[in-house]
Amino acid sequence: MRTKIAIIGAGPAGLMLAHLLQRDGIDAVVVESRNRDYIEGRVRAGVLEQTTVNLLERLGISGRMCREGLIHTGTNLAIDGELFRIDMEALTGGSTVMVYGQQEVMRDLFDDAAERGIKIIFEAEGVQLHEVDGSHPFVTWREHGAERRLDCDFIAGCDGFHGVSRPCIPETIRKTFERVYPFGWLGILAEVPPANHELIYANHERGFALASMRSATRSRYYIQCPLDEKLEDWPDERFWDEVSLRLGPATAAHVVRGPAFEKSIAPLRSFVTEPMRHGRLFLAGDAAHIVPPTGAKGLNLAVADVTFLAEALAAYYRSGSALGIDHYSDRALARVWKAERFSWWFTSITHRFPEMDGFARKMQVAELNYIRGSRAAQTMLAENYVGLPLQ
Ligand code: APR
Ligand code: PHB
Repeated sequence: MRTKIAIIGAGPAGLMLAHLLQRDGIDAVVVESRNRDYIEGRVRAGVLEQTTVNLLERLGISGRMCREGLIHTGTNLAIDGELFRIDMEALTGGSTVMVYGQQEVMRDLFDDAAERGIKIIFEAEGVQLHEVDGSHPFVTWREHGAERRLDCDFIAGCDGFHGVSRPCIPETIRKTFERVYPFGWLGILAEVPPANHELIYANHERGFALASMRSATRSRYYIQCPLDEKLEDWPDERFWDEVSLRLGPATAAHVVRGPAFEKSIAPLRSFVTEPMRHGRLFLAGDAAHIVPPTGAKGLNLAVADVTFLAEALAAYYRSGSALGIDHYSDRALARVWKAERFSWWFTSITHRFPEMDGFARKMQVAELNYIRGSRAAQTMLAENYVGLPLQ
């Protein structure tokens, strides 16, 4: 088999890239190790930046999102139960976010991919990349026991944090930057109306809590927890008690309890690898970087990467110019680092750290109170939250 672009991974980065290339008439094949149900079943964040929404609209994949998604013009912070609102729309000159689960985005991307004839190979075993720094790269895998080979011009490594693409950049060239946080997020999904019509990011003496949602009838809540916490120690009632405590009495009064139909613990990590290109291999999304979920930047960053990459590849095939391709890594990383900074900062002012003493906690409370009273500080938060421009 031969194609122009071999895309490794059918997560948000890989599928969005496949759609962008298809729109530009550039032949591509997606090679994915799991099946569609597995990918659609993974519960991830649910806040789309304005730029992500705009891209889905331009690609004509926004019908269901526009009908079912919730536009949020603001978000809330809480200090020991006391809420204040950040009016993102007013502070950014009209930008908002869309609350629409990643699972729904994936379903829409897969549905439209099938209609548009985008080629996706599922359940590819033992995927390997070859000769990425030569002029004829190719990809191999096993499919139902048969050996397969895909020759291509370029490979897009969109295979997430645990994928095979990143290690293809030699260790002598690859630099990694990392922070592992000393806590995780315990999250639940429940078929109950949200406590508040917008999100609440709560800093509480006992640790961080987040009240989020998927729709007017489905809520998503998180609490910060130790990394070695066991799910079986968190029956639903204990979770509801703890999240209510951390959100504070005013919000707790509106928390509707119900059985959790999903419950999981996720670690928090900041991670960046540089460069994001080696020879004919480009990395995009979680293959190149991870952010802690505070601020919900993961999917949006992946979308920004593939927007840059698709532009560079389109210019290459249109005019033969490699300028865009050569600039891809620097351009993507410039934005990645800003989102890394925001996610790290937002985590650092909202979570309880094990080594935190009285002074450190006072600093957090002072910073949150400063944000509450300063339009400049609120603008910084708002413009990062709705998404920085794609420059
Ligand atoms: N070969 C082929 N596919 C692979 C391989 C491999 N060796 N390893 C992983 N994959 C697939 C995974 O099964 C997954 O479907 O690559 C895909 C990577 O998807 P994500 O992990 O979702 O990463 P990405 O597309 O970059 O998405 C970034 O979405 O899922 C969230 O947390 C993620 O918010 C982040 C954003
Ligand atoms: C979510 O709804 O899952 C969510 C929302 C906002 C975040 C993180 C996760 O910052």
